[in-house]
Amino acid sequence: MYDFQPDADLAKPELYRQLVQAAAALTDGESDGIANMANVAALMGEYLPAINWAGFYRMVDGDLILGPFVGRPACIRIASGQGVCGTAAATGKTQLVDDVHAFPGHIACDAASQSEIVVPIIRDDTVIAVIDIDSPQKARFDKDDAAGIEALATLLSARI
Ligand code: SME
Repeated sequence: MYDFQPDADLAKPELYRQLVQAAAALTDGESDGIANMANVAALMGEYLPAINWAGFYRMVDGDLILGPFVGRPACIRIASGQGVCGTAAATGKTQLVDDVHAFPGHIACDAASQSEIVVPIIRDDTVIAVIDIDSPQKARFDKDDAAGIEALATLLSARI
């Protein structure tokens, strides 16, 4: 059994340092990408406060397909360029959305979601997946979250 519960009230940079360290330990030596995404989705659910969905969409034949996650059931296929996830996939850039209702084309999977961050996972200059996290609070995510999830994406680019 794994027990990676974070300390309470950590500053975000330290929280993400611990999350990436835990993800590195959990995925070390494991070549199955689905298993690694499943465990990292569970870790994000344990480490990150004030979220209602955290998980992966994988790039398959040009579309994003739902991968392992924690949260309510979600839309299965997202075309590149559509919604927050598809925008991250098409641009290769992190998307920080303070208010999902103000994002043109946002795809609502859980009506509770108010803000969102999507970070592409890039291997050999190609987006192979995205990490998507939703929050029921507006403006939940900032540059510290972006830096932390980007570090996680860098780790996972060779492990999924
Ligand atoms: N809101 C996302 C869709 C995925 S769900 O949030 C899990 C989007 O607009 O791409």
